[in-house]
Amino acid sequence: MSHSAFYYVDGVLYAEGVSAASLAEQFGTPLYVYSRDALTRAYHAYADACAGRRATVHVAVKANSNLAVLNVFARMGAGFDIVSSGELARVLAAGGKAENTVFSGVGKSAAEMREALEAGVKCFNVESIPELHALNEVAKSLGKKAPVSLRVNPDVDAKTHPYISTGLKSNKFGVAFKDARATYAQAREMANLDVIGIDCHIGSQITEISPYLDALDKLLELVEQIEADGMSIRHVDVGGGLGITYDDETPPDIGEFVKTLLDHIEKRGHGQREVYFEPGRSLVGNAGVLLTRIEFLKPGEEKNFAIVDAAMNDLARPAMYEAFHRIVPVVKRDEKAHKYDVVGPVCESGDWLGRDRELAIAPGDLLAICSAGAYGFVMSSNYNTRPRAAEIMVDGERARLVREREEVTQLFAGESILPD
Ligand code: LLP
Repeated sequence: MSHSAFYYVDGVLYAEGVSAASLAEQFGTPLYVYSRDALTRAYHAYADACAGRRATVHVAVKANSNLAVLNVFARMGAGFDIVSSGELARVLAAGGKAENTVFSGVGKSAAEMREALEAGVKCFNVESIPELHALNEVAKSLGKKAPVSLRVNPDVDAKTHPYISTGLKSNKFGVAFKDARATYAQAREMANLDVIGIDCHIGSQITEISPYLDALDKLLELVEQIEADGMSIRHVDVGGGLGITYDDETPPDIGEFVKTLLDHIEKRGHGQREVYFEPGRSLVGNAGVLLTRIEFLKPGEEKNFAIVDAAMNDLARPAMYEAFHRIVPVVKRDEKAHKYDVVGPVCESGDWLGRDRELAIAPGDLLAICSAGAYGFVMSSNYNTRPRAAEIMVDGERARLVREREEVTQLFAGESILPD
């Protein structure tokens, strides 16, 4: 966590001006803690690099959809990237604007298309010919024209985890590069569609710029062909995907990333077009930690286990992608460290949060699972009838509850038993 909002003073972890131990005391654990300052700085890194250029930032809501988080971005004038009408509702509830929102996703339902059209979203990122037809029909029934961009699959290797790589031919995403020109020609014929852009998203946790430049080269070549066919492409959406440091990764700095892409587009003679970014992880990932308390230490023959009160239902990334999250003590101890697997109480061998971690810890101690702001709470579940964690936002010396911890009775409130 470079220039982090989370740092130690005399061996005690702080989130901005508040000690993490006092947060756990006040709000309980497991607890997601976000830093307003870290969110603000990450957004500014994008926005400042876009200033004076024809470029806009659309926050990928899926990475962290808490209303307070979205609202911090909305106040700074951010646009948003959504993948469901649920996310649209969150954007609007958080003070974001539909006209600054792009709608991505491979399987939008007719009802979602209708809601988004009525709200007046800025663009639909369409991924297939059947989706073009469906959107055209819905727009027709509303007497509207839907603004569309086609998500093209540029078939580049983003060199990231296979589950979060999306720009290869073998992925379900986007229109195949070889079919894109013809697909644009079809879209043009649909009376209730307004073709305005092109987009791609090649994957997530990408730590190099070169795959983006490869994708851009292919996209811009296509734009030239499409315009030769008589359509005009106003914007190029490069998607999200910029990686963060979880361990020892060295992704490009946000400003450098934005400038390199914009310069590349200008150099290729496309500077007149507006460029959209759709960052998620790089805005929120290192702005959040998950606090958890150690229930038991369990020595084993081959491994020692630290059993904590957070689990795979709270943070799914280790179980799902074998993802690495740094795990640090909230109050450092002087004793000798031992090696532990940090695991949760869920009845699955896959329920682990960190493996082979050197920690000096005792039962009852608090741990912080770092870089948990992106794809953390949003991917959490109620597996094992575990209420989802509370979320708080720290702002200087203040901490505010921004999502209440769930109560067990809420979890089955919508269920019923057979009458006889
Ligand atoms: N735009 C589109 C169309 C996307 O599909 C995504 C993420 C983004 C933008 C934002 O990407 P980011 O900047 O956050 O990399 N759950 C996985 C990550 C899934 C990413 C899905 N798409 C994880 O925890 O690593």
